[in-house]
Amino acid sequence: MRDLAFAEETAWGFALAFAGFFPWTLHRVSLGGFTAVPFLPGAILTPCRDGTSGFPHLHHIENQFAMDFAALRKEYEDHGLVPDQMELDPLNEFQRWLKIAIDNTPGDWFEPNAFTLATSSSSGEASARIVLLKGVRHGRLFFYTNYESDKGRQISANPQVAACFHWPYLDRQVRICGLAVKTSPEDSLTYFHSRPRGAQIGAWASAQSEPLASRETLEHRAAELSAKFAGQPVPLPPHWGGYQITPSRFEFWQGRTDRLHDRIVYRWQATDREWLRTRLSP
Ligand SMILES: Cc1cc2nc3c(=O)[nH]c(=O)nc-3n(C[C@H](O)[C@H](O)[C@H](O)COP(=O)(O)O)c2cc1C
Repeated sequence: MRDLAFAEETAWGFALAFAGFFPWTLHRVSLGGFTAVPFLPGAILTPCRDGTSGFPHLHHIENQFAMDFAALRKEYEDHGLVPDQMELDPLNEFQRWLKIAIDNTPGDWFEPNAFTLATSSSSGEASARIVLLKGVRHGRLFFYTNYESDKGRQISANPQVAACFHWPYLDRQVRICGLAVKTSPEDSLTYFHSRPRGAQIGAWASAQSEPLASRETLEHRAAELSAKFAGQPVPLPPHWGGYQITPSRFEFWQGRTDRLHDRIVYRWQATDREWLRTRLSP
């Protein structure tokens, strides 16, 4: 099988490389440690990105949808950060930024409370996904999810998490590191019942991050649960609820011209019980 695939790949490689195939698609094929860019008659050979070398072979055809990312360049306007004018408590500064982000949201399509949540397993495997910030209370950030999802399992193994908010229309980013712990069942219940009923049923129906046989299976399960809970409040699923992140580090990033951005970091000093503020190189 491997030989057959190899022969097929090689044949394709030569066919594409020497026929000057599809000038507009920038297919790249690799030949014995070199990448052939077959958009000109014949082939231009450049070193492979992965440094493959040795016996001539074609190990992949990549970049079907190639884009010139290097040409994507945005200049950031100047709205500088002056540490002395920032709040002493970074949580207050964060809430100020969040409010500005919400007040200036470019449209319904953008969720200014969305952030990337990074977690990792005890063996160091990292994972990141978007979740929604649903509250900032008592110095903590709240979000809600399935406790048995991949993220839930990773948080139980390693409660150190990172959050990253990006508000591109303000040229701003906030990075937060901290410790995630489950919220109380009362808090989870209150938030759960504030969600639309369909989303409450959905939390029961979805074994988040587990394989699913088909879309129909999920919809069938949701319909069954909807019938089961008809005429009564939907109870809080035992596998669903909130996490609160207690931050230990904040970084406020403001895009500036010529990539001379501002980065102001706050680190929690447990012994002195105060935040230490530092400027970082961009
Ligand atoms: C805009 C947006 C908001 C989301 N909000 C949440 C959320 O608040 N809670 C959640 O569990 N998943 C949310 N998701 C889905 C997650 O990104 C992710 O797919 C899901 O939680 C499973 O992640 P996991 O397998 O790493 O646990 C959101 C996705 C997007 C794109």
